[in-house]
Amino acid sequence: MSRSGSQWTQRPSLPPSHYVDARLYTDERLFAEEKERIFASSWFVACHQSELPKRGDFRTVAHPAGANLVVVRGDSGPRAFYNVCPHRGNTIVYEPAGNGASLTCIFHQWSFDTQGRCIGIPREREGYQERLCKADFGLRAVRTEVDFGGFVWVNLDDRAESLADYIGEALDGMRGCLGSEPLEVFSFHRVIAHTNWKFWNDTNSEFYHDYIHYFNRQTSMLQQGYFERKYLPFRNGHVVVGDQIVEYEAYKGGENRTLTFPTLEPNQWKLTILFPGMAYNVRGSSMRVDSVVPLAPGKVAIEYRGLGLLRDTPAERALRIRDYNSIWGPFGRNLHEDQLAVHGQGLARGSGQTFIVQAREENDTIHDEVGMRAFYAEWSRRMGRQAHDPYPLPQLDAPLIAEYLS
Ligand SMILES: [Fe+2]
Repeated sequence: MSRSGSQWTQRPSLPPSHYVDARLYTDERLFAEEKERIFASSWFVACHQSELPKRGDFRTVAHPAGANLVVVRGDSGPRAFYNVCPHRGNTIVYEPAGNGASLTCIFHQWSFDTQGRCIGIPREREGYQERLCKADFGLRAVRTEVDFGGFVWVNLDDRAESLADYIGEALDGMRGCLGSEPLEVFSFHRVIAHTNWKFWNDTNSEFYHDYIHYFNRQTSMLQQGYFERKYLPFRNGHVVVGDQIVEYEAYKGGENRTLTFPTLEPNQWKLTILFPGMAYNVRGSSMRVDSVVPLAPGKVAIEYRGLGLLRDTPAERALRIRDYNSIWGPFGRNLHEDQLAVHGQGLARGSGQTFIVQAREENDTIHDEVGMRAFYAEWSRRMGRQAHDPYPLPQLDAPLIAEYLS
């Protein structure tokens, strides 16, 4: 039976951990709080070291907390800074990437070296005499760690826990893939989706939606063991999906996927989803890493990087690119379908839905929505709000009301 307006807005009769208030996906105030309470103190994958192979290489990065950063490779490796001139607050670097011995602000030609030190102020002595010196006007450094497969991780919060503590054991199952050989980015694909950033994370972290993917229905879902894959939450809201060897040949066109990734069996698949918006996904010969950059409550940029091995021969690289694109490329058999799903969720936000359900329980196996619940438990902890009831009404003071009415 369909439901009336008042029935539609009733809370589901489920435990509070098993549904989410739909205002989490539209509310401007919650969005501003997410940037401040989650993204401003979380580790974030800014780029990969292979995108900055030479000294002086730089890359600009939109950080999810709203900051514009520049990552520069100096003698000690990549380091991140705010992309803002300490003089008059102008943007220093406008290009997405490039190379230079120093960075120079276009406005008044103040310049900075790869360590973020101010090295040039035109007519410094004439204007500032002894009152201002270069040593006091370096760039604002951002904590940077290169780890977990050579990714450049940044954190805007100088007091946040170390990257290793933040990740904990969530990437232990991928250590062989990430640490045996240097990796290299061969694909970069940035999508702007008109949806809330959490919908992307939800889609990465639940597998009940495998029904949307014809490819997955033909391969993984029909295989022995699919419904037994374990799905486990870790500290800090990260989740790990149990491995699977995918029988790609069950899909016409999926044959001949023979190239492997270090320490993996042929066509083995591993996936870790990291709070608040990253995923490490290795399937057969190639790896995909996602970084989510929220732009507005209903708009998100999602960056996808495809990786192979730095030492790949041209023939190996061509195979990895083929395998990657057949699933995750813009015209592949999987990723654009996930984008279609989150696009549809974005489109429907004006339609008055009040709650989003995440209630499947299947003993921590693949279709259990334990991953979404782990995410929203961490979201609630970080935000100081309940995901199922972010704006609780104040408790009515019964004796006071009685006094008023008497
Ligand atoms: Fe999917």
